[in-house]
Amino acid sequence: MSSIATADAQNGAAAPAVSTSDDYRASEHIVRVRGVKRVYKIGEVLVHALRGIDLDIKRGEFMAIMGPSGSGKSTLFNMVGGLDKPTDGTVFIDEVDIAQLDAGELAWLRCRKIGYIFQTFNLIPVMTALENVTLPMIFAGASVDEQMEKGKRLLETVGLGDRLYNKPGQLSGGQQQRVAIARALANDPAIILADEPTGNLDQKVGEEIIQMLKRLNKESGVTIITATHDDKMYKRADRVSIVIDGEIQAVVPPEQLGDNTVDGFLAQLKEEKDAAAIKDLETAAEVTATNAAITGEG
Ligand SMILES: Nc1ncnc2c1ncn2[C@@H]1O[C@H](COP(=O)(O)OP(=O)(O)O)[C@@H](O)[C@H]1O
Ligand SMILES: [Mg+2]
Repeated sequence: MSSIATADAQNGAAAPAVSTSDDYRASEHIVRVRGVKRVYKIGEVLVHALRGIDLDIKRGEFMAIMGPSGSGKSTLFNMVGGLDKPTDGTVFIDEVDIAQLDAGELAWLRCRKIGYIFQTFNLIPVMTALENVTLPMIFAGASVDEQMEKGKRLLETVGLGDRLYNKPGQLSGGQQQRVAIARALANDPAIILADEPTGNLDQKVGEEIIQMLKRLNKESGVTIITATHDDKMYKRADRVSIVIDGEIQAVVPPEQLGDNTVDGFLAQLKEEKDAAAIKDLETAAEVTATNAAITGEG
């Protein structure tokens, strides 16, 4: 647990506004999502992107969020990452309701506590790999020496020690995503949010990215929450949340999915639920019949 405590202590130490007490350490859940809904309004049309999400994510956990395109994964990420506000419900990070944070505190949270990784890398094209990685450190107030030393070290960690001065256009997709991982780690976040990080990569490179995230998760204890379509990805997760049409259908360990596709798993789940519902009805009918027999009614 020491590595987890380390990641946390680094964040806790510089967290005057978001986490002033040590109480939150008592909670094993770094993220708690309660009743979160998000309705988008386009003209007169309402889109119910999230329909009431409850989700707990443990400190140091690797959580995969799976679901078809349009099911609400990115919307959920935006809520957890403080990039957008729920229409209803609450997101707690370290037991702090992030809707209660003022602009400065929210900026601190986004800069120091959370690292973001996107499908399209989102690097700044005119900056070198090193400049992209050090940018969040500038916002966090690190000295130039610190920025350089740490930026180089992080790029070495992701295997790009020899690409410090390349711009994104001079790097492959996999290399760009590794720069994005280094950037996400710049301020020692407690949480990494990765929205389909392998979506624009071929399978082999995607798998390398996942292995890298898994390694960072194990070594530094950083909590990883990732949206994915990718089997390889969810198999490395501690738990998988399946989101369909803005609702969580199941949260299961990856072994439970086995070699099933998500569709196959959901069909199986539905069968089990239907069977359980029928069993409940049968039990209820038996109870009613028994009661009737005892009371002499019916
Ligand atoms: N900014 C937005 N404005 C309106 N509708 C949106 C917006 N973002 C997402 N949606 C809609 O919300 C639903 C969920 O989208 P999204 O969270 O992007 O799903 P996913 O990431 O799982 O593909 C979709 O129906 C999508 O069209
Ligand atoms: Mg998405």
